[in-house]
Amino acid sequence: MKAAIRRSYGSPDVIRVEEINQPIPEDDEILIRVHATTVNRTDCANLTGKPFIMHFVLGFFRPRKVVLGTDFAGEVVETGKNIKDFKVNQRVFGFTDTGLESQAEYMVIKPKDNILSIPNHINYQQAAASLEGAHYAYTFIHKTDIQSDHRILINGATGAIGSALLQFVKTLNVYVAATCNTKNMELIRSLGADKVYDYTKEDFTMDDDKYDFIFDSVGKSTFGKCKHLLNKGGIYISSELGPYSQNIFLALFTPLFGDKKVIFPVPYSLSKTLPYIKLLMERGEFKPVIDREYPLNAIDEAYQYVLSGQKTGNVIINI
Ligand SMILES: NC(=O)c1ccc[n+]([C@@H]2O[C@H](COP(=O)([O-])OP(=O)(O)OC[C@H]3O[C@@H](n4cnc5c(N)ncnc54)[C@H](OP(=O)(O)O)[C@@H]3O)[C@@H](O)[C@H]2O)c1
Repeated sequence: MKAAIRRSYGSPDVIRVEEINQPIPEDDEILIRVHATTVNRTDCANLTGKPFIMHFVLGFFRPRKVVLGTDFAGEVVETGKNIKDFKVNQRVFGFTDTGLESQAEYMVIKPKDNILSIPNHINYQQAAASLEGAHYAYTFIHKTDIQSDHRILINGATGAIGSALLQFVKTLNVYVAATCNTKNMELIRSLGADKVYDYTKEDFTMDDDKYDFIFDSVGKSTFGKCKHLLNKGGIYISSELGPYSQNIFLALFTPLFGDKKVIFPVPYSLSKTLPYIKLLMERGEFKPVIDREYPLNAIDEAYQYVLSGQKTGNVIINI
């Protein structure tokens, strides 16, 4: 079978699409034919080994898993003899941030909380695109107690996290302002934003509007710049550590002093996030945003594009 492989950490130049043996499922594993996967920001961290802390998780000197990929949508083709909950031909999708070796024609998985069946009306591309960003977006809102009279600002609503987050908070009937680039203003309005700032032309931190929550889903701003926009009791959450890795310290100390705080969004378990995402897809309340699609042979180009930080929503690899 064909698989996207890298044997060392590095740029997309280290990726090779090679013929390797198809994996054989153990008794407690499932063999899946992968139809679609995404190249997401977690994949980029797994490819490059950056931030360096990733080396402690993925393999210190070189990655333990040589096949890339953290998410998948596909069909079950074989089950180990201990598998009771999945059947051949079943359509399934799943995610694990430390890697599933899913950027390949086939993969094996030990089913735990990392795999669910795909809702009937959802295709493989939509299923793959609904995982990584939405998993982190869930964390943003479930670390907070959002009420319907609250006002929310999402900085960077065009990322995989931001575009899922915008749709999730709109299910809570709140007022949402969002930032994006010029070309995506209509998209962000169509996802439910009540006010849209074009970040290439205006700086939302210069406005007078006040918010109860500021979700910096691209990590391009800071608590310091946003603090004056927060109401009393307001909360700032970022997808990044901040330019001086300050968000961890701010999350420890801001709850002790003052009336505005930072929360650090340590992700929830997949046993909470994946069923929530699936439920919202079944209800038609979450439609993942899909940008470009690439074949497996051009996966290095997909990584280049995602690493540029310019994707809108999710980038698909069709296999
Ligand atoms: N904490 C975690 O565990 C975790 C996990 C995954 C990802 N992340 C981080 O979360 C961030 C978001 O990831 P993602 O996949 O959702 O999206 P992404 O690829 O980082 O976001 C791309 C989008 O953000 C827009 N953008 C860039 N600069 C902006 C700015 N100053 N203001 C508003 N929008 C801006 C881009 O617009 P343009 O096209 O105009 O540039 C593009 O549409 C990344 O920094 C990633 O490293 C963290």
